[in-house]
Amino acid sequence: MVDVLVLYYSRSGRTEVLANSIAEGVESVGGASANVKRVDYATVNDFIYCDAVAFGSPNYFSYMAGLMKDFFDKALSIRERVAGKPSVAFTSGGGGSDAALLSLERMITSFRLEKVADGVVSQGEPSRENLRACKKLGETLAKKALERAEVPKA
Ligand SMILES: Cc1cc2nc3c(=O)[nH]c(=O)nc-3n(C[C@H](O)[C@H](O)[C@H](O)COP(=O)(O)O)c2cc1C
Repeated sequence: MVDVLVLYYSRSGRTEVLANSIAEGVESVGGASANVKRVDYATVNDFIYCDAVAFGSPNYFSYMAGLMKDFFDKALSIRERVAGKPSVAFTSGGGGSDAALLSLERMITSFRLEKVADGVVSQGEPSRENLRACKKLGETLAKKALERAEVPKA
């Protein structure tokens, strides 16, 4: 069984809806389970002990929410322990910019995680298409986590 962490922040609920669709996609893959956590209830141990991770945030001033950034700041010292984990990102915004997604994806690079698919940017209330895209993203992430778990460690 692989554990996929869906780590997100949400104030008015839109990013949370996307996070739940990611989790639905994860759970649709046999052998994968989703752990959906709002970032202010998560610890770096959640990051260390998962097999893959999806990061979600609202767009705040063309960047991720401060609490997401704070989580990455706290995780700096465990960077080596998470390197290589399959990862994706998703964001919710009020306008037309993908800057918040890019800020999360820069963290994926900084932590030397493996970005396994392009992220989802949802604007305004999440559409059915956004939810479908998130479900697919969750599915892809879970499949990559399973593939990685099957490769024997050297
Ligand atoms: C402090 C703050 C800053 C924001 N800055 C932006 C922004 O720069 N660009 C944008 O498109 N939306 C911006 N928004 C709108 C939110 O990103 C948008 O409402 C989002 O869907 C909220 O997600 P949530 O429901 O998960 O909290 C901002 C909202 C807040 C509260």
